[in-house]
Amino acid sequence: FKIYLHQQHNNTQMNILILGSGGREHAFALKLSQSNKINQLFVAPGNAGTHQIAKNIAIDPTDFIAVKETVLANDIQMVVVGPEAPLVAGVHDFFLADNELKNIPVIGPKKDGALLEGSKDFSKQFMQKHGVPTARYQSFTKETLEEGFAFLETLAPPFVLKADGLAAGKGVLILNSLQEAKIELEEMVSNKKFGEASTTVVIEEFLKGIELSVFVLTDGKNYKILPSAKDYKRIGEGDTGLNTGGMGAISPVPFADDAFLDKVEELVVKPTISGLQKDGIDYRGFIFIGLMNDNGNPSVVEYNVRMGDPETEVVLPRIASDLFDLFEGVAHQNLDQKSFQVTPKTATTVMLVAGGYPEAYEKHKEITGIENVTESTVFHAGTTTKENKVVSNGGRVMAVTSFGDTIEEALKKSYKSIDLIHFDKMNYRKDIGFDLT
Ligand code: AMP
Ligand code: GLY
Repeated sequence: FKIYLHQQHNNTQMNILILGSGGREHAFALKLSQSNKINQLFVAPGNAGTHQIAKNIAIDPTDFIAVKETVLANDIQMVVVGPEAPLVAGVHDFFLADNELKNIPVIGPKKDGALLEGSKDFSKQFMQKHGVPTARYQSFTKETLEEGFAFLETLAPPFVLKADGLAAGKGVLILNSLQEAKIELEEMVSNKKFGEASTTVVIEEFLKGIELSVFVLTDGKNYKILPSAKDYKRIGEGDTGLNTGGMGAISPVPFADDAFLDKVEELVVKPTISGLQKDGIDYRGFIFIGLMNDNGNPSVVEYNVRMGDPETEVVLPRIASDLFDLFEGVAHQNLDQKSFQVTPKTATTVMLVAGGYPEAYEKHKEITGIENVTESTVFHAGTTTKENKVVSNGGRVMAVTSFGDTIEEALKKSYKSIDLIHFDKMNYRKDIGFDLT
């Protein structure tokens, strides 16, 4: 009987491929590596952190032919997509259209669903159509520049201009004067300030309030709301300076109490999921909802079609049960039969970045001291292995995650751990959580 169980266990173990190379993907890999339903874990292309717990495959996740070869060569039975680029480019559609791949579940939406992030104009239309609260807006092109100026004149400052397409997190401008807003609108639509991404520009009302991120996992019918998080996007302390991919994160978010999260579920999550169904979009994956909390009322700033980075580095560690079990629920469309547990503890993460980031910075700096960290988990982001050493390989280098009973306690551990880590010109924000503590 024992032998039978053992065999059955082995039979149900699967090989999984995670696409991506950031801290988010390291956090996915670490969480999935703890599942007893997984045999071998692959990350493409991965980083020095995923190298320690999985097999890295040096391919570009948007090179679908290379992804297919990797999947077939390694008997992969599920693919988890980290970043938006392969989703917007249609990796899930590619699998469904290929006879050898079509039965392999992909966690992440098809192209139609990925448009929620790939086109701001599409996502605003979707929200309006399905009654999801969001800022009033209109979209403009080179041909309608004059109407764009006229619309700006109906708004009060600050003015929010968004490139319609993907612009590596840089496509949103918030401007204080009407004149600046008009100049920038013209730069975007007429002079292609963000390339093709700004052929169409969304102009919308500025939303007041405090921002947070809510994460939903859906199988297209059912959904689970995962822990929420707050991200710190600016490079400088006190939320100043240039936007980055994210300099730190905290979960849970103290101001997102049960009453507020109930409103988010009723007013935002439910109409989003039913809207996708009504529009015939079979969405299987994560929805990251960027929200403004204005005096207890939620308003959607944006959708992303993936998990956040560094939010994942605080959200996944708080999930106390098997994440793969939820992914199976997505794959088999029985997420309603799954449950998951969340630790009530607070998780904080602080991102270590290369000096100069988000502008020009140097790579290939040797990183030392990670092995001395005992009170935190170090998630690698822009790192790689070179001659058996861990070196930096990107602007955001690693995220240091800790737990505590309070935000202060968790942050204290993250900062203590950071003191043990070193690389040339390492920079980080010393005030993560400043607005919450
Ligand atoms: P997005 O790329 O849509 O996340 O926009 C980048 C950042 O700009 C958001 O995280 C917000 O902090 C801010 N933002 C975007 N839209 C608005 C808005 N309508 N009102 C206020 N802030 C906004
Ligand atoms: N941290 C924000 C994002 O992942 O888009």
